[in-house]
Amino acid sequence: MKKVITYGSFDLFHEGHYKLLKRAKELGDYLIVGVTTEHFDYSRGKLNLIDPIMTRIENVRATGFADEIIVEDHEGQKIEDIQRYNIDIFTVGSDWTGKFDYLNAYCKVIYLERTPDISSTIIRHGRGQLIRIGIIGTGRVAPRFFEESSYVSGAEVVAAYNPDVDSAMEFNEKYKLPTYVDNFEKFLDKIDAVYIASPNETHAEYVRRSLMAGKHVLCEKPMTFTYDEALELYTFAKLHGLRLMEGIRAAYLPAFQQILAVAKNGSIGRVVGIDATFTRLPAIGSREQCDYKYSGAFLEYGCYGMLPIFKILGTDYEDVEIKSILGDSGIDIFTEIHFQYSGALATAKAGAGVKSEGALIIAGTQGYIYVPAPWWMADSFEVRHEDPNIVERYRSEFKGDGFRYEIAEFISKINGVGQSDYKLTAGESKEMAKVIEQFMKLRKKNQGD
Ligand code: CTP
Repeated sequence: MKKVITYGSFDLFHEGHYKLLKRAKELGDYLIVGVTTEHFDYSRGKLNLIDPIMTRIENVRATGFADEIIVEDHEGQKIEDIQRYNIDIFTVGSDWTGKFDYLNAYCKVIYLERTPDISSTIIRHGRGQLIRIGIIGTGRVAPRFFEESSYVSGAEVVAAYNPDVDSAMEFNEKYKLPTYVDNFEKFLDKIDAVYIASPNETHAEYVRRSLMAGKHVLCEKPMTFTYDEALELYTFAKLHGLRLMEGIRAAYLPAFQQILAVAKNGSIGRVVGIDATFTRLPAIGSREQCDYKYSGAFLEYGCYGMLPIFKILGTDYEDVEIKSILGDSGIDIFTEIHFQYSGALATAKAGAGVKSEGALIIAGTQGYIYVPAPWWMADSFEVRHEDPNIVERYRSEFKGDGFRYEIAEFISKINGVGQSDYKLTAGESKEMAKVIEQFMKLRKKNQGD
């Protein structure tokens, strides 16, 4: 019996997939089809699959060509499968020509002619699922957003806006995008969604104006300085069927999802302490060091520390205390936020112009999770116990600078895939605004305004 194997995502099942499977089956007597998991597709840079894995499997099954369907979830699995199932022929479409020649050492490799002019990507775009994004603010993060968005299928940055002419023109020259400096309405006309990366004090107003124009919004943290304003903006977005997401990058990383799962699944017992530190030494003269009203350690990095605390212990803390060390002109260079819960204590530390170990430690009654610096860009972590010989190590996907996972989440939400915002809920974001409000009051007092 001649055994054939092929693999694919088979998202939005189309004629090209059908023909490929038909011809694969004709190559032998028994066809095995490997369907990729979302996690595996993520790891190879295929973000934003539309169909869940069960739908994709069912669609392959419905063709009647597959004698067996398996799931592909890791790199190197093809070699394992070829040996385990005694495969004679490995086949894929001609878009992969040459890429799998190394499998010739194990079986025959055949590239089948790809059906022209159709692909899952084309269908996604054709469904109007290409989201045109405009960037507000063309400073330091805008180029990173632009570059990372190219890895997210279904996302395209088409315009930028910045009332600061010099910054706008510099961006325009480099990225060849229409960049607006005064006509905000015209800029909004070009797009479906905005990414807001302007100075902190302008975030909320840009969010409001964009939502009112019917645009989905991804806004850099901190989105607002008050709870009421956060409430107003999230309520407005919900009422109008718009997506509003606060851009706390760590929340969307694959490793962070794993950390939360391990913290909650009992591996370390009951969680009683969390310590999350984020520090950076910003460039001399940068906003983080000079803008004593709307920047500084807490406003730039405080949300990162609050993220794992709220995700793991919730937002029903009994008490919160904020303490800062001030630098010149009253800007905070180091801030600690202490949360007291019934049965747990947590600290978020933020430093701008102060450097410390950027680790995340989650302490439990039976062990602890150690996420090494920089934890907000985690790709691995450990679970440690009393016995130092027992250590469980976890590894996760981390591509580029991690920005693409946040962008992918934004696009998925706009497309109505995975609509629930469990990675960072509106409720958690509003609770962060509440702490920010408290910090701003303290700052005013400290600065004697
Ligand atoms: N395939 C094909 N003809 C097409 C599209 C896909 O023969 N027009 C083949 C691929 O070469 C692969 C299999 O179908 O062997 C599964 O491909 P998959 O990557 O799931 O589909 P694509 O449509 O190429 O997906 P995407 O656009 O997301 O890359």
